[in-house]
Amino acid sequence: MSHSYDHGGNIFTVARAMGVTPDAITDFSASINPLGISPMVRKALLCSLDSLAHYPDSSHHELKQALACHHNLSPDNFTIANGSTELIYHLPSLLPGKKALIIAPAFSEYVRSLSQHHWEVQHFVLTPENNFSIDTDKLERALADGIDALYLCNPGNPNGSLHPQRVIEQIHSLCLAAGTFMVLDEAFMDFCEEASAKHLVAHSDNAIILRSMTKFFGIPGLRLGYAIGNATLTGHLDAMGGPWCVNTLALAAGTAALHDSEHSRKTLEYVRQERRLLFQKLEQFPQLQVYPSSVNYLLVEIKSGMTARELRERLMHQRILIRDCSSFMGLSDRFFRVAVRCSEDNQRLMESLTTVFK
Ligand SMILES: Cc1ncc(COP(=O)(O)O)c(C=O)c1O
Repeated sequence: MSHSYDHGGNIFTVARAMGVTPDAITDFSASINPLGISPMVRKALLCSLDSLAHYPDSSHHELKQALACHHNLSPDNFTIANGSTELIYHLPSLLPGKKALIIAPAFSEYVRSLSQHHWEVQHFVLTPENNFSIDTDKLERALADGIDALYLCNPGNPNGSLHPQRVIEQIHSLCLAAGTFMVLDEAFMDFCEEASAKHLVAHSDNAIILRSMTKFFGIPGLRLGYAIGNATLTGHLDAMGGPWCVNTLALAAGTAALHDSEHSRKTLEYVRQERRLLFQKLEQFPQLQVYPSSVNYLLVEIKSGMTARELRERLMHQRILIRDCSSFMGLSDRFFRVAVRCSEDNQRLMESLTTVFK
């Protein structure tokens, strides 16, 4: 049986359909570190090749130590996984209950995984008019409807906006009072680490954080993510993954990535600067409205007659791939998302948009 997934970054399918090789496409649809993998990760990968003759370290000892040091938490607060998507798929069978509320627009895998376990899913939709902010009074009323689990992504994807820590703390309290478990997806939080709720959640009985090493560290092909939670919860999640769910190369890359603070610093600086430039340039098109972002992508709304699907097709002729966001609940067919790439690629995008909107 084959599955089709509605995500950014599906360059293999797109390239096949166009009869070109994947590297002929400039992919703005997946939001990955524009500086690529760190030199220390590259070295660690090469040095680990001989270790492929052994099974991976199933305790994930070194990576847990590195994460504990990086986040100033205990190694017991972490579960390592084959991408945070693996954790998303484990949670519905771990969590008690059967009714979930998802703050939308949101990553489509929450619904997909919950549905596999026969959860009833409701949505709490944030709107562009309110800059995707959460009305906590309204949320409190929604949670009172017997919600067992709340799914929330911070910073939001595809909108890129950041909910302040005090709002997350408030939502956590609302969840406690309502008997709701909070699943907080911080897949892009490395771009604004100071806003993470990790120190709250690491000691909470009713919350877990999901983190991805795919985006900031630029290794989507390796598959690496982790959860932050109290030791009981991470223990349960550890057991669900089986002994060798994370491969040797991913473990080595993750540990090296956390040690390369220079590459992380450069990434933050570069993304901040390129995001600002890309934002300013996109804003100059009268047909486009750009939404503020704390991460490495921007959500854009087309104000002219064109749909995001039409724009995507027009840009595909120039081998540029953007993310049409019409499949996201709460967004119309006019929204698209672009990653912040290197300055040359961003410039190419501007030139292509100029030919479309001139
Ligand atoms: C919001 C969000 N969470 C989680 C993921 C999953 O990331 P991964 O499984 O690569 O760690 C993605 C991937 O696009 C995402 O956008």
